[in-house]
Amino acid sequence: MALRNILKYGDPTLRQKCYEVTIFNESLGILLDDMKDTMFAADGVGLAAPQVGIPKRLCVVCVDGETMYELINPVIVKTSGTQRGQEGCLSIPGEHAIVERPKTVWVEAKDRYGKPCSYKVSDLTAVAFCHEIDHLDGTLFIDKTVDKK
Ligand code: CO
Repeated sequence: MALRNILKYGDPTLRQKCYEVTIFNESLGILLDDMKDTMFAADGVGLAAPQVGIPKRLCVVCVDGETMYELINPVIVKTSGTQRGQEGCLSIPGEHAIVERPKTVWVEAKDRYGKPCSYKVSDLTAVAFCHEIDHLDGTLFIDKTVDKK
């Protein structure tokens, strides 16, 4: 296990459009494992690769402390409903704001071995999926707040 350094707001990597993952090898698995450890150590519910300085399209999500999602090249293929809730981000410590997100999202992705996977998630898990997938395009929750002055 290894903890990675979490980049903070202002680092240009957080604003980068990330690259598709094309090689599913052992170092990808190590990166995912490190990202999980880093997320849990920071008390987060999700972490995207650009937050640890890797501009690639992958993220990890775990909102209940048990169900772990590893999303590689994730794409939101369908959404339904809306919800509003307060969000924060490990890269923007101390900031919280209300963001509107879909209530349910359908996502297609690959697992760490390159196998296609699809997910339908709702509520907090849907928020976390959307938040982390946004990171892969350089979008941060503060860009989307509905209570922005
Ligand atoms: Co974030």
